[in-house]
Amino acid sequence: MNAERILLFLVCFLFLSFDVGAKAKDIGCTSPQYVSTGSEGVINCSFRKGFYSLLWYSSPDVFHSEAVLTMVGSVKSGPGYLSGEFDIYPNGSLIIYNVSLENEGTFTAIILETPTSDAIRYVVDVIITAPTLSRLPLILECRNEGRICFRILPLHTEVSCKIQDARPAISLHWMVRTNSGDRNVSSSLSITNGTHPFFTSLATTSALFTFSSTLALLVCKADSPSGLLENDESLILIQNGVETLSSVPSVIKYVERGSRLVLNCTVSKRLYFVWQVQKPLETVFSNILFAVFVEGNLQSHIEDHGYNLHSEGTLFIDDVGTEDEGTYRCISSNGMEDDLLQYDVTVFVIDGCEGQHYCVLEMEPEGDLTCVVRGIRPWVQLKIIVSDDQSSTAFLLYGQQSTTQSNGDVFDISLTSKYRLNDASKTRVTIECKVIGTDIEQLNLSTKLDILFLNNVYCFVSQCQLMKVECNKFSDVVE
Ligand SMILES: *[C@@H]1O[C@H](CO)[C@@H](O)[C@H](O)[C@H]1NC(C)=O
Ligand SMILES: *[C@@H]1O[C@H](CO)[C@@H](O)[C@H](O)[C@H]1NC(C)=O
Ligand SMILES: *[C@@H]1O[C@H](CO)[C@@H](O)[C@H](O)[C@H]1NC(C)=O
Ligand SMILES: *[C@@H]1O[C@H](CO)[C@@H](O)[C@H](O)[C@H]1NC(C)=O
Ligand SMILES: *[C@@H]1O[C@H](CO)[C@@H](O)[C@H](O)[C@H]1NC(C)=O
Ligand SMILES: *[C@@H]1O[C@H](CO)[C@@H](O)[C@H](O)[C@H]1NC(C)=O
Ligand SMILES: *[C@@H]1O[C@H](CO)[C@@H](O)[C@H](O)[C@H]1NC(C)=O
Repeated sequence: MNAERILLFLVCFLFLSFDVGAKAKDIGCTSPQYVSTGSEGVINCSFRKGFYSLLWYSSPDVFHSEAVLTMVGSVKSGPGYLSGEFDIYPNGSLIIYNVSLENEGTFTAIILETPTSDAIRYVVDVIITAPTLSRLPLILECRNEGRICFRILPLHTEVSCKIQDARPAISLHWMVRTNSGDRNVSSSLSITNGTHPFFTSLATTSALFTFSSTLALLVCKADSPSGLLENDESLILIQNGVETLSSVPSVIKYVERGSRLVLNCTVSKRLYFVWQVQKPLETVFSNILFAVFVEGNLQSHIEDHGYNLHSEGTLFIDDVGTEDEGTYRCISSNGMEDDLLQYDVTVFVIDGCEGQHYCVLEMEPEGDLTCVVRGIRPWVQLKIIVSDDQSSTAFLLYGQQSTTQSNGDVFDISLTSKYRLNDASKTRVTIECKVIGTDIEQLNLSTKLDILFLNNVYCFVSQCQLMKVECNKFSDVVE
């Protein structure tokens, strides 16, 4: 059978029975389909394998026009095929070799699955796009950073986004994402000629902080037909370059060198947040990361390596070093209100105590006691006291003198005190060497020392905790 005879046969047949396609979900053609000019385009359809014949029309009207391409078995024909304008894949998808504006319109496929089955009709609207069409609205301030970026911008800045080379022109507008949905903000739209005959749209807004004052997620939304763009919105998270945050007391955090620092940013119902750090001697905060909930999933962008983010917004630093000291802050927002959490992080190091041991030493009724902390950070002040108030006149401590030696980023601190036993009837005095006057007090750095006055005078360091107390004359060390 040649193509004309098939056609006649089909046309007769069509009047009798005519099935509109896509009964099964994965069979048929999606519509519209976009093909771009200047290259090869495919009208992509899924037909049942092993169909008998297929006719492609470049028209919605199959009764008053000729099929541009026909395929019966594997025999291809038709004016569009013979002129080299069209071809067909074995699976039935139509190839347009050199797509031009003239190809825009409705295409129809008529298929016979077997010589005797009903003819099925599939209709596809083909829309011609420019090869230079943007895949998504491009936020100019984000340059090439993809669909989401973060910027710190002065208060009265304009942000713009554009769609290059669309046809018809696509409308764009700006919104702010809040916990009560996306809210339009005033923006201006201008449409200019792009690559002929396509149009470029540009939407600009300066309404950055309409609802919240520090952090705002602006969304540039394209009102484009579905399927034309890969994404119809792009986002920019903007922090106000003018500090509007009222200061909050910092949470003091001590973390031991080499351990894991965990800083939480648990603020309910927030939509986006940034973590920043100000290191000692620096005057501004620098960005660690920003994160945005997009369709319920947290999308984070870590700008500085060495940091990890937990899904709840908690920041982790593993194997903390003294270079990680600084002020950390998490600014978060639900689009309407901003929140700030701030931490002052001090990394401490204590390697002054070698194991747990007791020392036994002879005491003179009068002499010197030294308390030493080696390899500590931050610098601390030490004090030796008599723990028990009632003994403080019986055992007098006086003339305390401290020395500090710095050793890289840690310190060796020692405190020497003179003592005098005033009451010979005393048999036991407890003294304590402790850290005073800094927030590191919360770590309970202290060592207690029991001094027993017996026939032969001894003292015991009850336990080597973090500091070592040295008396002037050691006689024995019991491990
Ligand atoms: C055609 O569609 C199928 C499934 O619908 C898809 O897997 C394939 O990538 C498409 N091909 C082209 C060239 O668009
Ligand atoms: C049809 O075949 C072409 C070429 O192999 C392929 O690119 C296209 O994705 C196929 N379409 C479907 C729907 O499988
Ligand atoms: C494609 O068509 C354009 C005009 O429609 C023409 O200028 C160009 O030479 C053609 N390209 C090819 C490879 O045929
Ligand atoms: C926001 O603006 C767009 C375009 O101007 C409009 O289509 C949409 O309805 C507006 N949405 C609201 C909630 O006003
Ligand atoms: C856009 O292109 C059309 C057609 O080429 C032309 O008539 C019109 O003046 C152009 N507009 C601008 C703003 O360049
Ligand atoms: C987060 O840290 C703050 C301040 O340290 C604390 O008050 C809060 O309980 C912490 N929340 C969680 C979930 O750990
Ligand atoms: C420090 O000591 C106080 C009082 O003895 C106690 O309440 C607190 O839990 C201790 N803190 C640590 C970190 O051990």
